[in-house]
Amino acid sequence: MTKRLIRLTVNGKPYDVEVEPRERLLDVLRYKVGLTGTKEGCGTGDCGACTVLLNDKRITSCLMLAISAHDCEITTVEGIAQDGHLHPVQKAFMEHGGLQCGICTPGFIVSAYALLKEIPHPTEEEIRFNLAGNLCRCTGYVKIVEAVKAAAQELQGSG
Ligand code: FES
Ligand code: FES
Repeated sequence: MTKRLIRLTVNGKPYDVEVEPRERLLDVLRYKVGLTGTKEGCGTGDCGACTVLLNDKRITSCLMLAISAHDCEITTVEGIAQDGHLHPVQKAFMEHGGLQCGICTPGFIVSAYALLKEIPHPTEEEIRFNLAGNLCRCTGYVKIVEAVKAAAQELQGSG
């Protein structure tokens, strides 16, 4: 199959990558760009484990063709840490036990990060509503919601 050269900006760095038209963005990020933080859970757009930001909007990278992301800016979980320090959302997930097996965690972190940019002080209902596209089969969600609330407080304090 004919390959095409695409340009992606991932976590602020430009990458020129050759892709086949059928390649998923998830696979290009993991195996060509080398950022394996983005996980594959279902591969069918249902679980949110593969969530990344594309031009600041949340998408499931298992459903997106890499070729369609040409010239786009992508943020993965690796791009959320700041100057080598964990982002408050990442710290809060660790400190509040918002993870167990961890397969869903990068997707939740990216979604929570996007949510808090859009709604800095979300209610519990807003947190649950906005994270409904991310599924977790381990935690029961209570600790995840606590982590997002704590991150919101921390960001409020630092902002
Ligand atoms: S792996 Fe993409 S939504 Fe589940
Ligand atoms: S921590 Fe295991 S699926 Fe969420």
